Amino acid sequence: MAPGRDGLGIVENGLLAACGGRIVYAGAAGDAPGLKADETIDCDGRWITPGLIDCHTHLVYGGDRAAEFALRLAGATYEDIARFGGGIVSTMTATRAAGEARLVAETLPRLDALLAEGATTIEVKSGYGLSLDAEARQLRAARALADHRKVDITTTFLGAHALPPEAGGDKNAYIDRVCSEMLPAIARAGLADSVDAFCEGIAFSVDQVARVFETARSLGLPVKLHADQLSNLHGAALAAGFGALSADHLEHTDEAGAAAMARAGTVAVLLPGAWYFIRETQLPPVDLFRRHGAHMALATDCNPGTSPLTSLLLAMNMAATLFRLTVEECILGVTREAARALGRLDSIGTLQAGKSCDLAIWSIERPAELVYRMGFNPLHARVWKGLPA
Ligand code: NIG
Ligand code: FE
Repeated sequence: MAPGRDGLGIVENGLLAACGGRIVYAGAAGDAPGLKADETIDCDGRWITPGLIDCHTHLVYGGDRAAEFALRLAGATYEDIARFGGGIVSTMTATRAAGEARLVAETLPRLDALLAEGATTIEVKSGYGLSLDAEARQLRAARALADHRKVDITTTFLGAHALPPEAGGDKNAYIDRVCSEMLPAIARAGLADSVDAFCEGIAFSVDQVARVFETARSLGLPVKLHADQLSNLHGAALAAGFGALSADHLEHTDEAGAAAMARAGTVAVLLPGAWYFIRETQLPPVDLFRRHGAHMALATDCNPGTSPLTSLLLAMNMAATLFRLTVEECILGVTREAARALGRLDSIGTLQAGKSCDLAIWSIERPAELVYRMGFNPLHARVWKGLPA
């Protein structure tokens, strides 16, 4: 599959050649230049897509929130639980208590589930440490995942995720610390590829997020935002104003926000797992994104509170069924557009010469099969940097 704004760029009887981990040719077998290969693989009529990209996860954390899930089934809302000291702060407690090795060990089964479905690049956020030490540990654990598995990990500092209890309710003072101490130290240590924040009534205001983004900008780090998930604080427009790589969730985004994102090239990352799991009813404005020409990506948002989801295939099915995305939008959402949302479209996300040879090979007859099944994995093989993985 090659680029093109809407279509998948399907090539039948295709040939893909790689050298040194990079694609050197992807296209019709009949048009291929004379190539001499050390090794050839006959895919036997199977389909090849770019390796899948999960561009929004909170994969590294301690503990789980199954008890909180039971409370929600009994009627409590996500926001009620957060206000009473549960939610993100309860995962913070479990994450702070875990050492780096335990965080890695607890995360590997979740990572393996994503890889088993053809993922080759995964973004991982911090945000469950909420102190410099614990955030750095979470990011180091995320980076260490790549020592254990054949996968690219990109990391995002999400210090402005929630207020830790020791901040005594003073959000501004905590944001001061994020900007003056935590983020500069994380950047100096090279632990983050980008910076995210949670802009919401139960988290941080537009002004507080803007301060974090200004700091990120001064440190040369790109930004992303958890925006307009539970209410419309105009987070999408805020993100666009800072030229964010992406704004994510977006259920409550209005037309001005969608238009601003399209103009800025800020990718709309839709997270149907979270929508489903917290039984949200407000749909993200998919038609507005289409009409204004904003790019749409999809991700699992894998996290213990709102989306304990480790399947990009199911995320695609949910996006189609719940958000009415087309098959093409779903597949592009976990490949080309997810790469764009990470600022890595130059090196991954499509099958083009020069890009990393990250592939998923599928035992399917047609692309729609990747989206329509639930709980079935048609992956035949995963290739990471040109090597079977
Ligand atoms: O993407 N919205 C904020 N952050 C996460 C949830 C984190 C949690 O509840 O642990 C999300 O939904
Ligand atoms: Fe998230």
